[in-house]
Amino acid sequence: MSVTVRVPAKVNVQLAVGAARPDGFHDLANVFLAVGLHDQVTVTPADELTVTCEGPDAEQVPLDRTNLAARAAIALAGRRGIEPAVHIHIVKDIPVAGGMAGGSADGAGALLACNELWRAGASRAELLAICADLGSDVPFSLVGGAALGTGRGERLTVLETGGTFQWVFAMAERGLSTPAVFREFDRLARGRDIPEPVASAQLLQALAKGDADALAAAVSNDLQPAALSLFPELADTLDAGRGAGALAALVSGSGPTTAFLARDPDAATKIADALRASGTCRTVRTATAPAPGATVTRRAAAR
Ligand code: C5P
Repeated sequence: MSVTVRVPAKVNVQLAVGAARPDGFHDLANVFLAVGLHDQVTVTPADELTVTCEGPDAEQVPLDRTNLAARAAIALAGRRGIEPAVHIHIVKDIPVAGGMAGGSADGAGALLACNELWRAGASRAELLAICADLGSDVPFSLVGGAALGTGRGERLTVLETGGTFQWVFAMAERGLSTPAVFREFDRLARGRDIPEPVASAQLLQALAKGDADALAAAVSNDLQPAALSLFPELADTLDAGRGAGALAALVSGSGPTTAFLARDPDAATKIADALRASGTCRTVRTATAPAPGATVTRRAAAR
């Protein structure tokens, strides 16, 4: 028997960041939107825990127990007092270290897949609790759609969306480390008063209406100055997308992937072509949002 789960990437349409907390994390008002770029995670019984990965960025994915997919299997097995004896295979399409929750997606995917494979019977609430232990973005990878994350981003409120949004993503030549971007945020914020992070009512309304123009007017990312400070060339990518007619151009999460909101699929194609021609990024993808969360797509009998 093997179980395959499909998990989406995310873009943050609002990322409001508060001051650093005593535990080093930051309180957030984080509006997540799941986008139709996916990883696939397949789990199969094995003698011991192993991880393999295929896809364009596969060589950058750690295959040891630091991989969030491996940690998810270990966490669920630990709660049931069983061995995490499973082979995890990841087909990776979400950019690695790109600020699109690729690692988190694999964690949520492996967790859902192992819960099925082992018939572990974890409820949605238990799965969400394990996800929150694994990382701030992991619960959203399980849930998908659109949601507001508060606390360090892990406490989710599901949001309604009234339509679909067309996005273009430009992947950068190198990655950015999330902790490094938050540290740079702290450095840039030194001596300033950091307000409590709150979700923008205008932005939530735009999502609920499915209004791309209103969404474009309301998107924001407090980590963007920190990402640009560590990776100044991203400004050229943002300019190239804006020049090609993007309604909004922003760094996705902690970056370095940049995200461009398009009015419709034709506009998305035009923006994608212009970004490819600009020579300011490694690859370009288009995707529609919202996408469903982690979903079991295949259960296969052992051969
Ligand atoms: O929770 P996760 O493992 O994804 O977080 C990665 C790193 O990002 C944390 O170790 C921390 O440095 C930073 N972070 C933060 N505040 C958050 C979420 C993440 O400072 N709310």
